[in-house]
Amino acid sequence: MTPPTHIPDPTTATDESLATWVWGRLAAAADEPNDPMHLHVLCTTDERTAPDARLMVLRGASRELNSLWYHADATSTKVKQIERNAAACVVIYDRPTDTQIRVHGDARIVQREEDIRAHWQHIRSLVQQLRHDDQASPPHDLRLEALNRSDHDSWWKPDHFAVIAMHPKTIDVHLPHAGHPRRRSLVVPASQAHPGTSDSCAESV
Ligand SMILES: Cc1cc2nc3c(=O)[nH]c(=O)nc-3n(C[C@H](O)[C@H](O)[C@H](O)COP(=O)(O)O)c2cc1C
Repeated sequence: MTPPTHIPDPTTATDESLATWVWGRLAAAADEPNDPMHLHVLCTTDERTAPDARLMVLRGASRELNSLWYHADATSTKVKQIERNAAACVVIYDRPTDTQIRVHGDARIVQREEDIRAHWQHIRSLVQQLRHDDQASPPHDLRLEALNRSDHDSWWKPDHFAVIAMHPKTIDVHLPHAGHPRRRSLVVPASQAHPGTSDSCAESV
């Protein structure tokens, strides 16, 4: 998907046009290693509710399902933290447009077998594509991390594979404006915050 090129004017953009821009940028950044919005900082809380954070690769985004998806090891600390406390925050920076996006919401570990399988098949097909066409990937391609995993690596097996779905409640967009970033906050209506049960990434890639 080609990322939207324009930047919304924070003083005149409607909430709808801003939301369309944000979700369009995120959908374009999923699985696209050269996109600055490909890497997210995912913040969770530990067992003492102290903040914890780490870099994650965005694997899918759907406005319709109000979801951002990440892949992780099912035994990892972040997965345990999310199972204990869903409250999470994601921070993203788009250097070319000097735009920061901050998402507050609930993170969930995807439970539906068919959704996990859809993500698994998606990442495996990416790896197969890279193995087939290794000239096409720049050296910093983050997908190479997956490419370099042996099929015998314990992480790299379906039962170690977890999908994290982040469901935004608010999306703060910090846009450049006359030398000072201007913040706009988008509130996701409660009725849309957890729409349906599907966490398939299929329509975002
Ligand atoms: C550039 C970069 C991308 C990363 N992407 C992921 C990712 O998509 N999924 C993941 O589980 N860990 C990813 N990591 C590793 C995490 O940042 C983290 O160190 C690891 O998952 C352990 O986190 P935890 O102990 O909080 O669970 C990435 C690290 C870097 C440096």
